[in-house]
Amino acid sequence: MNIEQYIRDIKDFPKQGVDFKDITPLLANPEAMRICAQELLNLTEMQPIDKVVAIEARGFFFASLLAEKLNAGFVPIRKPGKLPFDTLKQPYTLEYGMDTLEIHEDAIQKGDLVLLHDDVLATGGTAQAACRLVEQLGGKVVQCNFLIELSFLKGTEKLKYYEVRSLLTY
Ligand code: PRP
Repeated sequence: MNIEQYIRDIKDFPKQGVDFKDITPLLANPEAMRICAQELLNLTEMQPIDKVVAIEARGFFFASLLAEKLNAGFVPIRKPGKLPFDTLKQPYTLEYGMDTLEIHEDAIQKGDLVLLHDDVLATGGTAQAACRLVEQLGGKVVQCNFLIELSFLKGTEKLKYYEVRSLLTY
């Protein structure tokens, strides 16, 4: 099965000139979900992983499946004000302006081997900030993996110190 057929382009979303990759048809199809999760898992080559760290919100869908398959814990990184316990914060640059990501201070133990997952790698600012949060807590980012990489936005340049793998590249 070609999972690409379950990803549709939405023109001018969320704003004019942006071609949005909508993964909801993929999420709605159990066989496509299963195959996609397996292919993402194959990217890790079953390296030992202690924590799968995922970025709100669309990173969560596949990351919890990966965590279960890798026998690893699942750790959410969230937008400001969403996590209830003490958090570490990391500001990052968006295309226009700034935002912040947060992680629970006790989510990673020193020396934890971490797989970072998100649905899309675009400019790389989000994933870079997430890697910094993991590292500040003493974790080691073994791999960053993505369902979709928008290679024309050169996100891998921001992640040049990490192993980056993507299932689909546009
Ligand atoms: C999207 C995507 C990534 C991020 C990638 O999330 O899910 O997390 O943008 O962008 P970057 O590589 O340019 O930093 P979005 O901010 O739309 O949040 P959402 O998943 O909560 O909708």
